[in-house]
Amino acid sequence: QTSEAEVVVFSVPSYACQRRTTLENHNAVLTDALALLAENAELSEEEGRGVAFRRAAAVLKALPRPVTSMTELRGLPCLGDHSLRVIKDILENGASSEAESTKQSERYKALKVLTGIFGVGAKTADRWIREGILGLQQLQESGQTLNRAQQAGLEHYDDLNQPVTKADADVISEIVERAVVSVLPGAQMTLIGGFRRGKLSGHDVDFLITHPEEGREVGLMPKVVSWLESQGFLLYQKTTRNSERSRSGHKLWRAVRVDLVVSPISQFAFALLGWTGSKLFERELRRWAGHERNMSLSSHALYDNKQRIYLRATSEEEIFAHLGLEFIPPSERNT
Ligand code: CTP
Ligand code: MN
Ligand code: MN
Ligand code: MN
Repeated sequence: QTSEAEVVVFSVPSYACQRRTTLENHNAVLTDALALLAENAELSEEEGRGVAFRRAAAVLKALPRPVTSMTELRGLPCLGDHSLRVIKDILENGASSEAESTKQSERYKALKVLTGIFGVGAKTADRWIREGILGLQQLQESGQTLNRAQQAGLEHYDDLNQPVTKADADVISEIVERAVVSVLPGAQMTLIGGFRRGKLSGHDVDFLITHPEEGREVGLMPKVVSWLESQGFLLYQKTTRNSERSRSGHKLWRAVRVDLVVSPISQFAFALLGWTGSKLFERELRRWAGHERNMSLSSHALYDNKQRIYLRATSEEEIFAHLGLEFIPPSERNT
């Protein structure tokens, strides 16, 4: 006796950088739970577990319609036992008990509040929690010494934890554009990060700055920062000399986090691709390059380990071509 069943299964390539993922998500209930567990793992410095949950969520985001049964998931990549348990729980009971209990836990709540302070990472938050500091008031009363970033972060806590809208981003774009062309005529500025991917809100605004003539961009970052400061836009700045990157809070009607990246024109395409995100998309591009092509991709260059040469590119399209990947536009990198 034979029995036959026909099920429609989804087919999804295994690297997120091989998939088109728009902002339209048909499985938000599932991916929200997995994202929460990923965040909790990341905040607990369990990066591997975090990535596993992020990859599982990314597969579900790429599906063309809501998942209704576990059988539809057969053959899909990146769904480990743990993620499958979470999905099953939601499909059967409407919610994930693990995600719910994590969300309610004192530790998770404290980690969220403390890492919500600009300049406070998982390590610092964990140390404070072990010292019994679970919230902002306890932190202030504890007499802990805070560095300058953290002081600014605490002072502007509410502003910096309020999402940045596209309208905010447009206003800031104009200001940064003015700064850039004032200090170096001919310099060009591009919106990167989530807003380039078409997101309507974000936690900051990201810009990439270059000049069409190689070398003219040298020393540009401190000049832009000084200009913003002289105009009264700057609350706090941290510049990493090495990466020519600056994080600043700008005082407008509210404080907003801004990331500035300066790149020489020869590296522009790599910087553009590397800073547009999403974070998982970037991670997957680098994994694809290394594991499938024996190449090393960064936001500066692409190196072919076999031929031992740097591969040049003047556009994102060329980089995808070097990697043997179909071009995915920014709006479809929302993994
Ligand atoms: N990035 C990076 N190194 C960092 C921080 C960020 O390379 N230390 C890259 C990320 O990989 C991402 C891009 O910069 O591709 C933007 O990062 P971020 O602003 O954190 O994320 P968004 O996607 O813009 O999300 P949001 O809207 O929340 O800002
Ligand atoms: Mn951003
Ligand atoms: Mn770098
Ligand atoms: Mn950023």
